[in-house]
Amino acid sequence: MVPSKKIIVTIDGWSSCGKSTLAKQLAKELNYVYIDSGAMYRAVTLYFLRNHIDWTSPVQVVEALQNIHLDFRFNEQSAQSEMFLNDENVEYVIRDLVVAEKVSDVASIKEVRDFAVAQQRKMGARKGIVMDGRDIGTVVFPHAELKIFMTADNAIRVQRRFKELFQKNPNISIEEVKNNLEMRDYIDSHREISPLRQADDAIVIDNTHLTMEQQLHKALHLVNEKCG
Ligand code: CDP
Repeated sequence: MVPSKKIIVTIDGWSSCGKSTLAKQLAKELNYVYIDSGAMYRAVTLYFLRNHIDWTSPVQVVEALQNIHLDFRFNEQSAQSEMFLNDENVEYVIRDLVVAEKVSDVASIKEVRDFAVAQQRKMGARKGIVMDGRDIGTVVFPHAELKIFMTADNAIRVQRRFKELFQKNPNISIEEVKNNLEMRDYIDSHREISPLRQADDAIVIDNTHLTMEQQLHKALHLVNEKCG
């Protein structure tokens, strides 16, 4: 049964451990809004790459951010929210390895985080939201009613992401994917501002050996407990 009380659910964790899959399942089941905060950092990175912004220059970063408009639009056909960058649907292109190779550097920049976090907080103002990322339970919504921290074995995470990316680009190697995940996890958990860490009040879900149904079942049980 879906509880009538609306809460904020945050899902943080390592790269490619199934956060967005669980977040989408939960949002659908609860009739909540799903927000993929990583897509916002990916879209900013895409803009910087396309416009040759030197992101080591704070002046260039601040100026560029003024020209970036991000919004999520619901696609009725796929029944999913998609990321739009200045009115262009970039949902597909932001998943490329070219973007993934730079996104953690861009996401370490204070001005970029302030830009994204302010928008994320607005999106959660009315509750009834599931948001996934790295700092959602620690920084964006420190008072969220339910915080989940997801993990999965490294080898499984690499396999899952490789399968996804290989469908788009058969030239991709498993080594490239592995290196990218390791590099992002390192940068994300060692950066000065809002590093990836488990919130003290987060509940861990390790989905290495869980089916999609099992992980949803676990999470729904937690939601019901928090709403009870
Ligand atoms: O899907 P995956 O777990 O591989 O990554 P993502 O959620 O699309 O996030 C891409 C990158 O954005 C991460 O590696 C982080 O560097 C950054 N990110 C962040 O810094 N803070 C967030 N709340 C979400 C993502």
